[in-house]
Amino acid sequence: MTNILHIKSSILGDAGNSNQISQKFVDQYLVTHGGSELTVRDLGENPIPHLTGEVIGGYGLAPEDRNETQAEAAALSETLINELRTADIIVMGLPMYNFGVSSSMKAWIDYVARAGETFTYTENGPEGLLTGKKAYVFAARGGKYVGTPTDTQTGFIQTIFGFFGIVDVEFVYAEGLAMGEDPKAEALATAEVKLIELAAA
Ligand SMILES: Cc1cc2nc3c(=O)[nH]c(=O)nc-3n(C[C@H](O)[C@H](O)[C@H](O)COP(=O)(O)O)c2cc1C
Repeated sequence: MTNILHIKSSILGDAGNSNQISQKFVDQYLVTHGGSELTVRDLGENPIPHLTGEVIGGYGLAPEDRNETQAEAAALSETLINELRTADIIVMGLPMYNFGVSSSMKAWIDYVARAGETFTYTENGPEGLLTGKKAYVFAARGGKYVGTPTDTQTGFIQTIFGFFGIVDVEFVYAEGLAMGEDPKAEALATAEVKLIELAAA
């Protein structure tokens, strides 16, 4: 059985383009890979709070020594990390907001990037602890940036996943979504062809 983790991060719910195209991929994948198990983590609907020094300090304490804030945050971090650990396939919807990932996606990253849990440091440098997984990233943008320095997302997400040991990462882009109805329709249609192809593999 394949476990799929669908991480959504649009602030626009079902109207979000990244939510829609990543959802289409998941729906298609479930058709072509019967018996798969799906977990959804919707960061737009249920945002992760900012990471704080108090929270980080709590990780190092025995559970009985944590205050309420620290206990809640540690439990959330463990839940999010377990979702990642359990997943064979990670499907990420990735809107571009103000030239970066959404603040809720960044907060999610801050809660799952934990030494000894998702990565470790060895004498040879950092080593990811979540190997053997495949990730699909569905990036939605108002403008067009692939292959330019303004594409701040591709390298960042590749770096984060790579840090966790997830090196098989496939990107599907829907770009130019704010550049008129025709370019938008064309971009979404191109993304759809690609996602159907990927889901069938
Ligand atoms: C708050 C906000 C900031 C945005 N910033 C950018 C941006 O910096 N560059 C860009 O190309 N598009 C930008 N857009 C357009 C979004 O990338 C586009 O609407 C995309 O569809 C967002 O994904 P979503 O529909 O899944 O939320 C922005 C949209 C919003 C709502």
